[in-house]
Order: sequence, then C-alpha cells, then structure tokens
Amino acid sequence: MSTETNIKQDIATFNHIFDALLQDEIDHPMTEAGEPEDIFKQLDIGLRDEPMPDDAFNENLKALVLKTPKTSSNRFFNQLFAGRKGRAVLGDLLAVVLNNSMYTYKVGGPQICVEREIIRQICSKIGYSEESGGTFPTGGSMANFMALLMARDKFDTEISHKGVRQTLIAYSSEESHYSMAKNASFAGIGRDNVRYIPADSDGKIKLDALEQQIKADLEKGLSPFFVNATAGTTVLGTYDPIDNLSVICNKYNLWLHVDGALGGAAMFSERYKYLLGGIEKSDSFAFNAHKMLGVPLSSSMIFARDKKYLYQSFSNDADYLYQGHSDDYNLGKMSLQCGRRNDALKFWTLWKSVGTKGLEEIVDYQFEQSKVAHDYIEKHPDYTVYSKTPSVTVCFNYKDIDPVKLCTELYEQQKIMVGYGAQGDTTFIRSVTVNTSNNTEDTLAFFKVIEDFVENKK
Ligand SMILES: Cc1ncc(COP(=O)(O)O)c(C=O)c1O
Repeated sequence: MSTETNIKQDIATFNHIFDALLQDEIDHPMTEAGEPEDIFKQLDIGLRDEPMPDDAFNENLKALVLKTPKTSSNRFFNQLFAGRKGRAVLGDLLAVVLNNSMYTYKVGGPQICVEREIIRQICSKIGYSEESGGTFPTGGSMANFMALLMARDKFDTEISHKGVRQTLIAYSSEESHYSMAKNASFAGIGRDNVRYIPADSDGKIKLDALEQQIKADLEKGLSPFFVNATAGTTVLGTYDPIDNLSVICNKYNLWLHVDGALGGAAMFSERYKYLLGGIEKSDSFAFNAHKMLGVPLSSSMIFARDKKYLYQSFSNDADYLYQGHSDDYNLGKMSLQCGRRNDALKFWTLWKSVGTKGLEEIVDYQFEQSKVAHDYIEKHPDYTVYSKTPSVTVCFNYKDIDPVKLCTELYEQQKIMVGYGAQGDTTFIRSVTVNTSNNTEDTLAFFKVIEDFVENKK
C-alpha cells in the first residue's frame, strides 16, 4: 500500500525525536503551560484528507513531543508516577513491536510465562498460597473494580446472572481513592452504598467507627460484604492497619481488599514491608508497578488469595478464542478484557535486570528522599507539615500562602509541576518523591525553587 512506511525509518525518527526530548528535558524541564486552544493552533494537530509530507510530519511530531509535559524531568512532582527507567522502557517498546494479546498461550507464547512468573513471585512475597492468582488489568482503578466484583460474586453467586437484588454495602476510608465510588456504581452496588469511614489525623481508617457502621447496617437488614484497606493513600500516603481490619472482616465475614496501587511496593523492602503487616490475610491486593517502581504507565496488577474467584467472576467460554492449552496459560479466563496489552514485559525487564534486591533499593530510596524532604520542612519555621514518614508523598503549606494559587503560579511560570490535596477542610501542597533519577539535591532544590519564587514576587 502506498501509505506503508519503512518501520526502520520510523525507528530512526523515534531515535531522533527521543534524543531531542532528552536534551530538552535538561534545557527546559518544564514545558509552557498555555491554553489548549492555543496549543491546538500552534502544533498543527488537525487531521486532514491529504497526507502530510515526511519532513513536515517529522518536524510536527517532534514539536508535539517537546510541548508535552515532561514527567521525567527533575521539576515534575505532580503525580504518583515520575521518571523513566531504561530497562522498563526497553521492555515496553518490545511489547509494542511484538503486539501480542495476553488472552491465550497460542497468541502470547512465552510472554504468558513472563506474566505468570511476576504474579507467582508477588503472590509468594505477600504470603498468598499456591491457590492464589492474579492478572494485569488496565490500571489501579480497574484492579479495585475487579476486587469489588469478586467480592460481590462471592457474597451471592447468582448476582452475575440475576443482577443485584440486595442492598450490598462496601466500606472504605474517607481518604481512599475515588475509584471506590465509580466502581460501586459500575458493579450495581450504588455509590450511596459505599460507607466512607472517618480517618484519624494520620489518615488511617478508624477501626471503631468501621465496626459501629457495620453493626448499624446489619441492624437495618442491609448486606455488608466488602472492606477496602488502602496501603498508601493517594494524598497522605498513609497505610491502613491491614491486620486489624482482617480481624473485623473475619468477624463479619467480609471480603478484605488492599488497594496498594501506590504503596504496595513496600513489599519489596525489608525495612518497610511491616507497613503491609497482615497482607497475607487479605482476599485481594491491587498493586501498580507504574507508581513507586517507575515502570511506564500502565503496569497494574490484581491478586486474589484464591484464584477461583477470578475465574468465577471473569471466565467465559469462547470457542473462537480458546483453542488449545490449559486454562492456566489462557490468561483471558481471569481477565476483565478480551484483547489485552502486554503490561508485564516492561516490569519483567526491569525486575530481571536489577533483581529483587534492585526493586528493594528503588523503594528504600523513595522513602529516603521523602525523609530528606520531611526533615527539611520540619526544621524550617515557614513550613507547616501534614504528612508523616514513611510516605512517598510530602504534604505541606508554605508561609500561609494559598496552596492552590501557589501551585497554579508555579505551573504557569514554568517553575515546578506540583499539585495540591486536602485532608478534611485543610488544603495543602502534595509533592511526590517517586522519581529515582532525582538526587538529594533535586529533592531539596524543589523547596528552594518555591522559596525563591515567593521571595521574587514581593
Ligand atoms: C490509592 C490509589 N488507588 C488506586 C489508584 C488508581 O490507579 P490508576 O491511576 O492506575 O487507575 C490510585 C491512583 O493514584 C491511588 O492512589
């Protein structure tokens, strides 16, 4: 076809643009903020009937890349992911050119074994038995959704055929991720049937409040079925007490899910794995390698202590798809999706190259950098600190300055990308120390940039 290009030329173009990006990340670590309407005009994003000539296409593509926010630069503290790990990028690039789908061994071949090996290693790390299993959904929100569906279908095996007929109640702390509400609506449980349990000043779910609420719901004839514990809350980075929650869940026969999308990576650290104490008693566990481990988006996993619940909720026969090999290798039978991207290989290339010890170093380093940041602001009289270590989020306010205004100005004036969050009525800046390419100087420079910016505005 006349529109086919030589892929080797495209890879050469990729290399050229990537070199330019690496240089630009140093020269301009922040891209211009700008308004979407202006960027649309500046970049020639519009699609037309006629093809674009090669040279113009390459230049246009490069401009598009260089105007995109730089999440790997040392000025990006805005999200729970940041930085770039070469070996993981290599794995992802290969997954793209291989273009397998992870539903069957016939189509995925050894990539299926790669995914299974990661699942097996993590299940064993968190103390799940041989009965356990897992899969890679599209992200942490979907991992949490799968947990909710497994819990729902365990509570009443007829729901998947007849629909929800009872008032199911799920429990989660007020600090938990917003996917809880959406997922309850998708699962037919209803947003109003999620009970948001108050958290203490550290951001941990209050156990007595949880138990009282469960009792009150039982007395009303409602059907409690699910508790979500968060291991690393989105704003304060706090870990809920999994062990204590498992006692309550046992007592009332509730499914215990641990949302470790952010903080589950502590499992790799001898020093910090205590934060996940009791994880082996949970029924399911969600974990994102694209947050603390620096694997490119997305590389997200859901684990079930008993894999029969994965099959119960997600398996479906399809003669046109499953044509050989055992279900153990036809991973589509445990998945929410049909066609499924290979999100395992990039995690595997990182893990294989640095070893489990290397993953431990990554995790320890991030907690260490957060400690460096906390030590600095705790000693500095102009800062009010809201987060507590160990956590990879650093929450603070500076000199009583409105955090929303400050974050916005820092962004608009291309100083730093950082966001804000809230606990109760208090809003503060939330910085994140997950970019392992940042050294201590970069971590401290973040505060210097803020201080100079405020000083120069006077
Ligand atoms: C605690 C927690 N759970 C779940 C998620 C959702 O993960 P994803 O962005 O991969 O959907 C996040 C994202 O920030 C999170 O912080």
